[in-house]
Amino acid sequence: MLVSLVGLPGGGKSTVGRQLARRIGARFIDSDAVLEERIGMPIRSFFEQHGESLFRDVEEKVIDELTQVRVDEHLVLATGGGAVLRAPNRQHLHERGTVIYLRSSPEELYRRLRHDTQRPLLQVKDPLAKLRELYEARHPLYEETAHYSVDTGRPSVATLVNMIVMQLDMAGLLATKHATTNGGGPLAT
Ligand code: S3P
Repeated sequence: MLVSLVGLPGGGKSTVGRQLARRIGARFIDSDAVLEERIGMPIRSFFEQHGESLFRDVEEKVIDELTQVRVDEHLVLATGGGAVLRAPNRQHLHERGTVIYLRSSPEELYRRLRHDTQRPLLQVKDPLAKLRELYEARHPLYEETAHYSVDTGRPSVATLVNMIVMQLDMAGLLATKHATTNGGGPLAT
Protein backbone atom coordinates (compact mmCIF):
# COMPACT_ATOMS: atom_id res chain seq x y z
CA MET A 1 0.00 0.00 0.00
CA LEU A 2 1.42 3.33 -1.06
CA VAL A 3 0.42 6.81 0.12
CA SER A 4 2.25 9.66 -1.64
CA LEU A 5 2.28 13.31 -0.67
CA VAL A 6 2.56 16.03 -3.31
CA GLY A 7 2.58 19.82 -3.05
CA LEU A 8 4.76 22.89 -3.27
CA PRO A 9 8.07 23.11 -1.38
CA GLY A 10 7.64 24.01 2.29
CA GLY A 11 4.10 22.65 2.56
CA GLY A 12 5.14 20.01 5.09
CA LYS A 13 5.30 16.88 2.93
CA SER A 14 8.23 15.39 4.88
CA THR A 15 7.02 16.39 8.34
CA VAL A 16 3.45 15.26 7.76
CA GLY A 17 4.63 12.18 5.87
CA ARG A 18 6.90 11.03 8.67
CA GLN A 19 4.15 11.38 11.29
CA LEU A 20 1.53 9.83 9.04
CA ALA A 21 3.80 6.82 8.48
CA ARG A 22 4.34 6.38 12.22
CA ARG A 23 0.61 6.66 12.83
CA ILE A 24 -0.42 4.01 10.29
CA GLY A 25 2.57 1.73 10.83
CA ALA A 26 4.13 2.32 7.42
CA ARG A 27 7.68 2.97 6.29
CA PHE A 28 8.53 6.55 5.36
CA ILE A 29 10.68 7.59 2.39
CA ASP A 30 11.53 11.08 1.21
CA SER A 31 12.22 10.86 -2.53
CA ASP A 32 14.56 13.89 -2.34
CA ALA A 33 16.73 12.04 0.20
CA VAL A 34 16.95 9.01 -2.12
CA LEU A 35 17.75 11.37 -4.99
CA GLU A 36 20.56 13.06 -3.08
CA GLU A 37 22.06 9.67 -2.29
CA ARG A 38 21.84 8.74 -5.97
CA ILE A 39 23.44 11.95 -7.27
CA GLY A 40 25.96 12.04 -4.44
CA MET A 41 25.56 15.73 -3.68
CA PRO A 42 23.01 18.23 -2.40
CA ILE A 43 20.18 18.94 -4.86
CA ARG A 44 21.16 22.57 -5.01
CA SER A 45 24.71 21.71 -6.18
CA PHE A 46 23.34 19.28 -8.77
CA PHE A 47 21.07 21.99 -10.18
CA GLU A 48 24.02 24.35 -10.41
CA GLN A 49 26.34 21.83 -12.05
CA HIS A 50 23.98 19.88 -14.30
CA GLY A 51 20.78 21.89 -14.64
CA GLU A 52 17.14 21.17 -13.88
CA SER A 53 16.46 18.89 -16.84
CA LEU A 54 19.02 16.27 -15.79
CA PHE A 55 17.72 16.53 -12.23
CA ARG A 56 14.20 15.74 -13.52
CA ASP A 57 15.55 12.69 -15.40
CA VAL A 58 17.03 11.24 -12.21
CA GLU A 59 13.87 12.20 -10.29
CA GLU A 60 11.72 10.33 -12.83
CA LYS A 61 13.77 7.15 -12.37
CA VAL A 62 13.61 7.42 -8.58
CA ILE A 63 9.83 8.00 -8.56
CA ASP A 64 9.32 5.04 -10.88
CA GLU A 65 11.35 2.80 -8.58
CA LEU A 66 9.88 4.01 -5.29
CA THR A 67 6.27 3.70 -6.44
CA GLN A 68 6.68 0.01 -7.25
CA VAL A 69 5.70 -1.25 -3.81
CA ARG A 70 5.09 -4.90 -3.01
CA VAL A 71 1.54 -5.85 -2.06
CA ASP A 72 2.57 -6.49 1.53
CA GLU A 73 4.63 -3.29 1.79
CA HIS A 74 3.23 -0.18 3.50
CA LEU A 75 4.92 2.99 2.42
CA VAL A 76 4.39 6.74 2.82
CA LEU A 77 6.32 8.65 0.16
CA ALA A 78 7.06 12.38 0.32
CA THR A 79 7.87 13.66 -3.17
CA GLY A 80 9.81 16.74 -4.31
CA GLY A 81 7.62 19.72 -5.18
CA GLY A 82 8.40 19.43 -8.88
CA ALA A 83 7.78 15.69 -9.23
CA VAL A 84 4.37 16.31 -10.84
CA LEU A 85 5.97 18.20 -13.75
CA ARG A 86 6.64 14.97 -15.66
CA ALA A 87 3.61 13.06 -16.94
CA PRO A 88 5.07 9.59 -16.17
CA ASN A 89 5.51 10.64 -12.53
CA ARG A 90 1.91 11.86 -12.30
CA GLN A 91 0.73 8.59 -13.78
CA HIS A 92 2.88 6.34 -11.59
CA LEU A 93 1.98 8.20 -8.42
CA HIS A 94 -1.75 8.21 -9.21
CA GLU A 95 -2.07 4.65 -10.47
CA ARG A 96 0.20 2.87 -8.02
CA GLY A 97 -1.18 4.31 -4.81
CA THR A 98 -3.19 7.01 -3.08
CA VAL A 99 -2.00 10.58 -3.52
CA ILE A 100 -2.64 13.42 -1.08
CA TYR A 101 -2.10 17.02 -2.15
CA LEU A 102 -0.91 19.25 0.69
CA ARG A 103 -2.26 22.53 -0.58
CA SER A 104 -0.65 25.75 0.68
CA SER A 105 -0.87 29.35 -0.49
CA PRO A 106 2.26 31.03 -1.87
CA GLU A 107 2.05 33.60 0.95
CA GLU A 108 2.04 30.92 3.63
CA LEU A 109 4.97 29.15 1.97
CA TYR A 110 6.87 32.38 1.70
CA ARG A 111 6.51 32.94 5.45
CA ARG A 112 8.03 29.49 6.05
CA LEU A 113 10.72 29.56 3.38
CA ARG A 114 11.94 33.12 3.23
CA HIS A 115 15.26 32.21 4.87
CA ASP A 116 15.74 28.95 2.94
CA THR A 117 19.07 28.55 1.15
CA GLN A 118 18.76 24.93 -0.03
CA ARG A 119 15.95 25.04 -2.55
CA PRO A 120 17.49 26.02 -5.88
CA LEU A 121 14.29 27.41 -7.39
CA LEU A 122 13.86 29.88 -4.54
CA GLN A 123 17.34 31.41 -4.68
CA VAL A 124 15.98 34.38 -6.62
CA LYS A 125 15.44 38.07 -5.97
CA ASP A 126 11.72 37.76 -5.35
CA PRO A 127 10.92 34.31 -3.87
CA LEU A 128 7.27 35.25 -3.26
CA ALA A 129 6.74 36.02 -6.95
CA LYS A 130 8.46 32.72 -7.75
CA LEU A 131 6.17 30.82 -5.36
CA ARG A 132 3.12 32.46 -6.96
CA GLU A 133 4.38 31.43 -10.37
CA LEU A 134 5.02 27.85 -9.17
CA TYR A 135 1.53 27.72 -7.66
CA GLU A 136 -0.11 28.88 -10.90
CA ALA A 137 1.81 26.36 -12.96
CA ARG A 138 1.62 23.41 -10.62
CA HIS A 139 -1.67 23.61 -8.74
CA PRO A 140 -3.58 21.98 -11.64
CA LEU A 141 -0.94 19.23 -11.83
CA TYR A 142 -1.16 18.51 -8.11
CA GLU A 143 -4.96 18.34 -8.43
CA GLU A 144 -4.70 16.03 -11.41
CA THR A 145 -2.30 13.70 -9.61
CA ALA A 146 -4.02 13.60 -6.23
CA HIS A 147 -6.98 11.59 -5.02
CA TYR A 148 -7.49 13.92 -2.02
CA SER A 149 -6.41 17.43 -1.02
CA VAL A 150 -5.85 18.97 2.40
CA ASP A 151 -5.33 22.68 3.07
CA THR A 152 -2.25 23.18 5.21
CA GLY A 153 -3.08 26.78 6.19
CA ARG A 154 -4.34 26.61 9.78
CA PRO A 155 -4.19 23.07 11.08
CA SER A 156 -1.27 21.75 13.13
CA VAL A 157 0.74 18.82 11.79
CA ALA A 158 -1.15 16.48 14.13
CA THR A 159 -4.50 17.75 12.79
CA LEU A 160 -3.34 17.36 9.20
CA VAL A 161 -2.30 13.79 9.94
CA ASN A 162 -5.72 13.13 11.51
CA MET A 163 -7.48 14.57 8.47
CA ILE A 164 -5.46 12.36 6.12
CA VAL A 165 -6.03 9.26 8.27
CA MET A 166 -9.78 9.99 8.19
CA GLN A 167 -9.72 10.28 4.41
CA LEU A 168 -7.79 7.04 4.00
CA ASP A 169 -10.11 5.34 6.45
CA MET A 170 -13.26 6.53 4.66
CA ALA A 171 -11.77 5.27 1.40
CA GLY A 172 -11.49 1.83 3.01
CA LEU A 173 -7.70 1.89 2.86
CA LEU A 174 -7.25 1.45 6.59
CA ALA A 175 -8.62 -1.39 8.63
CA THR A 176 -9.59 -1.61 12.25
CA LYS A 177 -6.95 -3.27 14.42
CA HIS A 178 -8.49 -6.74 14.53
CA ALA A 179 -8.63 -6.84 10.71
CA THR A 180 -4.89 -6.48 10.28
CA THR A 181 -3.72 -9.85 11.46
CA ASN A 182 -3.61 -11.13 7.89
CA GLY A 183 -0.46 -9.07 7.30
CA GLY A 184 -0.93 -7.93 3.75
CA GLY A 185 -4.35 -6.34 4.26
CA PRO A 186 -5.26 -2.72 4.87
CA LEU A 187 -3.41 -0.78 7.52
CA ALA A 188 -4.38 -0.37 11.16
CA THR A 189 -5.61 3.00 12.36
C1 S3P B 1 11.75 21.23 -6.12
C2 S3P B 1 11.44 20.94 -4.81
C3 S3P B 1 12.38 20.29 -3.89
C4 S3P B 1 13.45 19.50 -4.63
C5 S3P B 1 14.07 20.35 -5.71
C6 S3P B 1 13.06 20.86 -6.72
C7 S3P B 1 10.75 21.90 -6.96
O1 S3P B 1 11.67 19.44 -3.00
O2 S3P B 1 12.92 18.32 -5.21
O3 S3P B 1 14.71 21.41 -5.07
O4 S3P B 1 10.88 21.89 -8.19
O5 S3P B 1 9.76 22.42 -6.39
P1 S3P B 1 10.73 19.99 -1.78
O6 S3P B 1 9.36 20.16 -2.32
O7 S3P B 1 10.78 18.87 -0.79
O8 S3P B 1 11.34 21.23 -1.29
